[in-house]
Amino acid sequence: MSQVHDIHITICMGSSCFARGNNRNIEVLKDLAASRPRGVGCELTGCLCQGQCTLGPNLMIEGQTYHEIDPVGVMALVNRQFALEGGHDSAGSDG
Ligand code: FES
Repeated sequence: MSQVHDIHITICMGSSCFARGNNRNIEVLKDLAASRPRGVGCELTGCLCQGQCTLGPNLMIEGQTYHEIDPVGVMALVNRQFALEGGHDSAGSDG
């Protein structure tokens, strides 16, 4: 029997990443974490500047760093990870 586990997401809350878009990305992530799509939760953590400001906004999902992420990109990345963890593919469709 496989066990799903929460997805670990770390979002840079340094001032540059925050101003470049993580102020919006964090709202998307909080909504996703609260809704537990596919029965999978999010463990959402903030971090300080990682020294990659020019590539921001930056965030990490399951240890993989992503750069220049906007809210649409956040949704795509997290939904892909939810599908991997939850074993269902319902990104944008439940039919
Ligand atoms: S503020 Fe995010 S890497 Fe510097």
